[in-house]
Amino acid sequence: MEFQDVVRRRKMVRRYTDEPVAPEQLERVLSNAVRAPNAGFSQGWSFLVLDSPEDTARYWDIFVGDEEWEADGWLRGMRTAPVLILPCSSKAAYLSRYAQSDKGWTDEDEARWPMPYWHMDTAMAVMLMLQTVVDEGLGACYFGIPPRHEAQVRAEFGIPDAWDPIGVVSIGHPDTGGAKGSPTRRQRAPMSDVVHRGSW
Ligand SMILES: Cc1cc2nc3c(=O)[nH]c(=O)nc-3n(C[C@H](O)[C@H](O)[C@H](O)COP(=O)(O)O)c2cc1C
Repeated sequence: MEFQDVVRRRKMVRRYTDEPVAPEQLERVLSNAVRAPNAGFSQGWSFLVLDSPEDTARYWDIFVGDEEWEADGWLRGMRTAPVLILPCSSKAAYLSRYAQSDKGWTDEDEARWPMPYWHMDTAMAVMLMLQTVVDEGLGACYFGIPPRHEAQVRAEFGIPDAWDPIGVVSIGHPDTGGAKGSPTRRQRAPMSDVVHRGSW
């Protein structure tokens, strides 16, 4: 697929058919993710893959009875995804990488960091996953883990304290009838509102 078509066609998919994701498609999504740029080549990311009905159910069962998530059929549509990936980032991996001799921030002072690169880099990996999904003719949705459920998610899947799940990527073959996203209710901002040339 042409790159511009990948960019244009990518939109969040919130309901999936029962067709499985081929293992080689999933492998391509994951192996493209780790081509993302990342500060100091720290690679402080990890990906928890849930690709069986039993494992995805373990995730969604955490949210049963959560009225906010059950509203407007969002949860019902999202539960149809055959694959969930929880991308996780490690702040500790960046602090120790930048304390190495070629970087030299040996005091590991967090004030040096202009941005939380650990989350930024993992988010860049997510974007590559979303684009690869489109190129594979699949659909995906990135969504957050509500803080009120994060401890349950960590406990259910044994996510170590040193790793932060930055959200979830659902993947599958797109179906109709999923919850509608915000672009159905809002316009894309004009370029003149978001691009500032020369000065703000
Ligand atoms: C940081 C972030 C958090 C998001 N959280 C959710 C979410 O919790 N549930 C959801 O359905 N979509 C979520 N989305 C998807 C956005 O709603 C979606 O990207 C946005 O409305 C633009 O639509 P599009 O991606 O289909 O072009 C999130 C996206 C981002 C980048």
